[in-house]
Amino acid sequence: MYQIYTADQYLWEGLNLDGKTVLEGGTSWGNTTRRIAEKVKEHQWKTKLISVDIDDSHFDEIKEKLSESFDALDLRKGDLSKLDFIEDNSIDAIICNYTLSSVNQFPLRAVTVLKEFHRALKPGGQLVIMEEIPLWAVEHRDYPYWSQRLRVIKSISILKAMAHFNEIHPNDLEETLKTLNYQEVQYQEFKEAIDSSLATKFLDKRKQTLLKGYNDIDNDHLTKGFVEMTEKLVKELEQEKSFSAPAYIMKASK
Ligand SMILES: C[S@@+](CC[C@H](N)C(=O)[O-])C[C@H]1O[C@@H](n2cnc3c(N)ncnc32)[C@H](O)[C@@H]1O
Repeated sequence: MYQIYTADQYLWEGLNLDGKTVLEGGTSWGNTTRRIAEKVKEHQWKTKLISVDIDDSHFDEIKEKLSESFDALDLRKGDLSKLDFIEDNSIDAIICNYTLSSVNQFPLRAVTVLKEFHRALKPGGQLVIMEEIPLWAVEHRDYPYWSQRLRVIKSISILKAMAHFNEIHPNDLEETLKTLNYQEVQYQEFKEAIDSSLATKFLDKRKQTLLKGYNDIDNDHLTKGFVEMTEKLVKELEQEKSFSAPAYIMKASK
């Protein structure tokens, strides 16, 4: 697999959403929802988007900003592993960006989600997934800030005995999709540019998780050490506009 430096072109290659019903997996703060809305507007497509997330905290804001771009925008609070409200063979395309590793906080949950996606897709329907590539170790020279960020956020989750993201290697995802009877499975790796200000916000949230909550670590040294580590990384990132992260786009059809 070779690396490309911009994912956007590959993501949209062969994807025409005109007259289509599209399912988005993992709305979150609406980054990808906004990108789909831009594309739909640019091409004047008539597209119905159903966007699903287990957490609906950004739904009102997204609805207000993006509703007019779509023929219909249906934001649904729900679990992607149990899409009861979606009929079999009813979806033309599914776009699921940076969500499988979050679903996979419970290992193998992502497989159930991919099975649900397969049930929901029409024959010939397209699946597009963007994910982070897992790193073997944090001392990754190509991605120093990304590695340090992973160290901080995962260590804090483990210290607090919380579930954490589990990134899926593209080879494993490719095999899983084939096992689940997806066709034309292919992927490309690329370097993604992460906005430093978004990363620092996320790190700050992690610091708050460390300091608050019912399952506090009863050890001041540990807590202080991780707070220092997080603050040091935030300071370093404040000097950068963006930094690189390893990612891939996987495509398949039913
Ligand atoms: C990193 S965010 C998604 C980012 C977004 N797609 C984008 O492109 O910027 C991951 C999202 O997955 C959601 N999520 C995790 N497990 C889920 C599940 N089982 N069902 C639905 N949503 C889930 C989380 O609530 C979170 O909003």
